[in-house]
Amino acid sequence: MRFKNEIARAGGVLIVTPEHDRSIPAVLKNAIDWGARPWGKNSWTGKPAFITGTSPGAFGSALAQQHLRSVMTGLGMILLGGEAYATFKPDLINEHGNVGDESTKKFLQDFVDRFALLVTRLAPAAQASAA
Ligand SMILES: Cc1cc2nc3c(=O)[nH]c(=O)nc-3n(C[C@H](O)[C@H](O)[C@H](O)COP(=O)(O)O)c2cc1C
Repeated sequence: MRFKNEIARAGGVLIVTPEHDRSIPAVLKNAIDWGARPWGKNSWTGKPAFITGTSPGAFGSALAQQHLRSVMTGLGMILLGGEAYATFKPDLINEHGNVGDESTKKFLQDFVDRFALLVTRLAPAAQASAA
């Protein structure tokens, strides 16, 4: 219940995922399923969302994100357009816990800025679906 309340209060949902066996990590899928139940009380509907992620494979979590996109669209979420994948390399995150590479940082920042705008624009709709 606490989880569903937190989704209801959120203006938007940002998911950063790894990739497991070319798909959504089971624990993440489980959380999404809990948020969608019980029938008729889907907490995700109308929520703006942005998906990104990283994994060591060459596709950088692209297949996990593709599956996630399909599930989230099916649940009625409003996804930010575009694709934000990054192959995980040891220097991707620096010793301060930040994205170290400047071009990757800018690439991700552009998505975050666009997502913030989407959340602002959809604020009344996201609140209405929480009521
Ligand atoms: C069961 C399992 C399956 C994975 N499958 C993939 C995969 O299909 N593609 C990929 O790029 N990485 C894969 N990985 C690597 C993860 O994306 C992740 O980078 C790695 O597990 C490190 O994160 P962790 O410390 O949170 O486990 C897999 C990891 C696990 C544990």
